[in-house]
Amino acid sequence: MSNYDSTQHVKGSSLFVDDVTAPEGLLYAAILTSPEAHGNILNIDFTEAEKAEGVKGIFSAKDIPGDNQIGGIILDEPLFAEDKVDFIGQPVAIVVAENQLTAKEAVKKIKLNIEKLPAVFDAREAFAKNELIIPPRTFTLGDVENTWNRCDIIVEHRVESGGQEHLYLETQGSLAHPTEGGGIKIISSTQSPTAAQKITARVLGLPMHKVEVDVTRLGGGFGGKEDQATAYAVMCALASFKLKRPVKLILSRQEDLRITGKRHPYSSDFKIGLSSDGKILAYEVTFYQNAGAAADLSPAILERTLCHCTNSYFIPNVKATGISCRTNLPPNTAFRGFGGPQGMFVLESAIYRAAEKMGIDPSVIQEKNLLNEEDEFPYGQKVQNCNIRRCWNQTKDQFIYDEIKSKVVAFNNSNKLYKKGVALMPITFGISFTSTFLNQANALVHVYTDGSVSVSTAAIEMGQGVNEKMRNIAASVFSVNIDRIKVNSTNTSRNANTSPTAASSGADMNGKATEIACNNILERLLETAAKELKSPGTSIKILNEKIYVDGTETDLTWTKLVQAAYFSRVNLSSHAHYSTPDIYFDKTINKGKPFAYHVFGVSIIETTLDCIRGTYEIDSVKVVHDFGKSLNQLIDRGQAEGAIVQGIGWMTMEELLYNDDGKLLTDTLSTYKVPDIFFAPKEILVHFLEDAPNPNAVFNSKAIGEPPFMYGIGSYFSLMNAMKAFRNNNHYKFISPLTNERVLVSLYAETKE
Ligand code: MTE
Ligand code: HPA
Ligand code: MOS
Repeated sequence: MSNYDSTQHVKGSSLFVDDVTAPEGLLYAAILTSPEAHGNILNIDFTEAEKAEGVKGIFSAKDIPGDNQIGGIILDEPLFAEDKVDFIGQPVAIVVAENQLTAKEAVKKIKLNIEKLPAVFDAREAFAKNELIIPPRTFTLGDVENTWNRCDIIVEHRVESGGQEHLYLETQGSLAHPTEGGGIKIISSTQSPTAAQKITARVLGLPMHKVEVDVTRLGGGFGGKEDQATAYAVMCALASFKLKRPVKLILSRQEDLRITGKRHPYSSDFKIGLSSDGKILAYEVTFYQNAGAAADLSPAILERTLCHCTNSYFIPNVKATGISCRTNLPPNTAFRGFGGPQGMFVLESAIYRAAEKMGIDPSVIQEKNLLNEEDEFPYGQKVQNCNIRRCWNQTKDQFIYDEIKSKVVAFNNSNKLYKKGVALMPITFGISFTSTFLNQANALVHVYTDGSVSVSTAAIEMGQGVNEKMRNIAASVFSVNIDRIKVNSTNTSRNANTSPTAASSGADMNGKATEIACNNILERLLETAAKELKSPGTSIKILNEKIYVDGTETDLTWTKLVQAAYFSRVNLSSHAHYSTPDIYFDKTINKGKPFAYHVFGVSIIETTLDCIRGTYEIDSVKVVHDFGKSLNQLIDRGQAEGAIVQGIGWMTMEELLYNDDGKLLTDTLSTYKVPDIFFAPKEILVHFLEDAPNPNAVFNSKAIGEPPFMYGIGSYFSLMNAMKAFRNNNHYKFISPLTNERVLVSLYAETKE
């Protein structure tokens, strides 16, 4: 069991956009972006840049043949700024030259005269100025207003969570070249080839059939290329279309860090009410989402925040309001978890605060309120096949939580300057795009006459192993050796009208489509076999490339059968479409059944804090996770481990800092720190919940991409517990990331409450 890309990756022979063999006449592009966060463009002077030797063309808003509009959900984002700029890094023009250095030098020669306007970077400030992306949305269940008077304990607090840089290894980039008859072909590092196709067509004023987008693989996406890869594909296409030459645009790491959107920072207020025995009776929360300067995917992300605001718990009375605030930052975008982590962090903070007030361990409240079968979420769906209590109990038993806990207490009793903390973090994550129409996928499968198989789907390989999973599925349906299966690049001419590979549902949905397509061909092959073997009415099966009649092996093999089918003029190809059944969501009342199913799991996170330095280590992360019946245990374990470390990074060390003008200060990897192997948990134990087949996804599996990210939230509370063991200072809460600096300052800050 392996991921078939790994060998190529290790040898360096995998092709990313910048590795594609340069086509004849390739030109290189660089972009001019706004140096101001908000302002009016008074004048742009290209003269000096145009005169520079080797410059082939400069294109800006005025050169766009179609619409200067790349907005996905809302049409509020120009490809190139026209008369005003709304964030630092907003593209203004693209310069094309014979080589990259010339293009970059020419960009510096453009004179851009901007009249500065006041800028807003804070979500609450934007809200006060009524700068909203969409009207506020409220999800309700029960009646919070009439519940507060029944509560024994009520606590309120503010919670802040920071943004997060995706840091995919391959920066944003694209290569475009003209095709016969005035068309264009784009090679892009995108999670959404169809979006790149559609928006290129819109900007160039072409029918979609003249735009072909091809994606071999991404050096990581993590949501950062669900919406934001489009702009670079379109710019490249525009330049190539104009110059009738191939054009390549690859962002440098620093450009990518500066100009692309990130995970949304949220600022939230909660009020939670409980009975004296720890039952949560009411929860009211308001989320201020910092959307940045354009909508991008913010409305959909906010929707998922609202959906996941009660995490793994049943709360009978909920009022959750989401406010998407327009600021002068680069538009923030999808990032693993898609708003879910931000929502869950607030509730976990609320539970922590309530537990403090009640003088009990937060896990008492967590356990008491875990979901039971058929409990209702604020979005109207009832939880089914609910495994959260199984995961909880098994986590506590398997890893002997009580022992961990008593060891932590013993350690803290015998150490003055080092303190340990431990926290439990349950997760429940809904699988499906909350926009129901996106829950569709398709696959095109060909069986060639030598018995080899080619699979093309809408799924984008970005390191998550979806291609290997498609191979597993095809090999399993046909019962042939996996080496026979090749997964092709994702191409809009083979797979049309595709949804982004996102929402953790890439393998789920494209896997189903692949299964259906393979079964279509299998059915025809079995008919052929019955004829060949002159045994109609018997049970014919393929097992490990051999054909069996009523359980008896025959001389017929996979390859011979495929050839026989070909000579009998049997169709050896199939195109199949899959749409997730029985889901719907009414956005006017915020009720429905948006998710095909939920993913469950529970983690224990142990940390050790150096109370003199404020530094800390993540000792261990121990998890029981519901993978369903895993399609590929190696890949799924890798997904869980990677997501956990990324989630811990978000909560602890990853900090985006800006100056007063909105300029990102942490725009290098020496200033924006992400977990490395030294910071990674000393131990990550991921246990697969047994006997948990999922009837709602392909081969009883479950989606894995995003859910384990949220285990990382436990690291925050684990560290809080370690801090409290040193000094019970109410200054601590609830601001993430909990950097070393923040820990140190709050450990020694004056206490006031
Ligand atoms: N794993 C790797 N290695 N690289 C990635 O970019 N993206 C994550 C997750 N795992 C990502 C990853 C995100 S945000 C999603 S939505 C899923 O993979 C998408 O793939 P899937 O739907 O096939 O799980
Ligand atoms: N998840 C991820 N990506 C998305 C979603 C979603 O629910 N909706 C639109 N894009
Ligand atoms: Mo993932 S954030 O849905 O690309």
